[in-house]
Amino acid sequence: MDTARYIVDGRHRLNGEVWVHGAKNAALPILAASLLCDGCEIQNCPDLSDIHAAENILQHLGCKTLWETDTNGQKVLSVKPVGPFAWDIPDKLMREMRSSIVFLGAIIARCKKAKLSYPGGCELGPRPIDLHLSSLRKLGVEIKEDLGYLECSVPDKLHAAEITLPFPSVGATENIMIAAVLAEGETVIRNAAREPEISDLAGFLNACGAKIRILSDGTIAICGVEKLHGCCYRVIPDRIVAVTYLCCCAAAKGEILLRGVCPEHLSAVLPVLEEMGCSLTVDKDKIAVLCDKPLKAVSSISTMPYPGFPTDALAPVMAAACTAKGSTIFIENIFQDRFKHAWELCRMGADIKAEGRVAVVRGVERLHSARVRCTDLRGGAALVTAALGVEGKTVIEEIRHVLRGYEHLDQTLNELGACIRQE
Ligand code: UD1
Repeated sequence: MDTARYIVDGRHRLNGEVWVHGAKNAALPILAASLLCDGCEIQNCPDLSDIHAAENILQHLGCKTLWETDTNGQKVLSVKPVGPFAWDIPDKLMREMRSSIVFLGAIIARCKKAKLSYPGGCELGPRPIDLHLSSLRKLGVEIKEDLGYLECSVPDKLHAAEITLPFPSVGATENIMIAAVLAEGETVIRNAAREPEISDLAGFLNACGAKIRILSDGTIAICGVEKLHGCCYRVIPDRIVAVTYLCCCAAAKGEILLRGVCPEHLSAVLPVLEEMGCSLTVDKDKIAVLCDKPLKAVSSISTMPYPGFPTDALAPVMAAACTAKGSTIFIENIFQDRFKHAWELCRMGADIKAEGRVAVVRGVERLHSARVRCTDLRGGAALVTAALGVEGKTVIEEIRHVLRGYEHLDQTLNELGACIRQE
């Protein structure tokens, strides 16, 4: 049972600098792909429970892993495939992290067969994997689904295919890329996802000797190679963690500097925060934010695949919008059920009407303290964001969701002047 919780004493102005850690969603597919290379060093790898779950899977599959800290104090995770190689992922490990499906392409490419349990629905609504499976079938994989398990085999060998995705799924694009790097011929993915994490996976695989080209129209061409060698690779900064700290500053007020970020990855979010009244100064790998004035609502925010407004940024921005003057309409176009945190924000006094994919947030003067529960990773981050602007103590339960994606969130916020304690 998850008994860990945060106690947040709000309304402390934030001030200081934050180093934004590496992106979980970039590191996870890279770790899956590391099964195919000859040993690699992943620099700026975030030290989080989802990454530990990926590490457990890698160890089960026949890899040795080792954490070290570099001279800048950043974490480095080394992976060395040593064998003997397993081709299954036990149900217990699959359940630790739903995105473990991204290991499927890697296991198939390495072992020519795979067995893993079907990832269930989750906090954000149903999470089908039909696009992953139909694409892998095109690459020559036979897949049987039996009692919640997927049994996959490659009767002949993996071969190239032309795949057009009906929706630019991030996970499906990653699985195809990983499976196709060692397939015979040139695989083309049309309408592929364009998220920065996709470019990072391509960067890692190319550093290992793969031949992947990402074209500006969203097409990815993967020319299969015989084998991959090892590499040292640095993961991109976590754009959603960066957004979360900016929203924390907007809610608590203050002036902070984010270091180690890639502002280009935030091009859909930064204008929204500016419109809300945050004053931003953007440099090459830094963003300074000053939030002193009352926040203003923006008329509407629609989530979209990259380069649109990221679905993962919706919840923290919504937390800031709760006390903005005016109404903000949020339209969620990626997941079916992404407003569970809204009901928890309402417990804190927010005025939110959510139905289906639309939520209308009417700004209130202030939120109040309450006992709330994290419903998912970004929803949990939204509760922390909101609590920082509240007078009095907010109790946030079930923070295991938050710990999946934020490294030392409490410690970092406390260093900025917040008052947050984990129990
Ligand atoms: C990844 C991110 C997640 C982010 C999401 C969208 C990781 C570990 N997670 O999730 O944080 O919110 O991208 O940017 O990187 N879909 C199907 N069939 C499929 C695959 C997806 O219908 O086979 C649907 C999903 O149900 C969802 C939508 O497509 O409604 C987007 O999913 P996808 O882009 O695949 O997201 P994930 O890779 O799961």
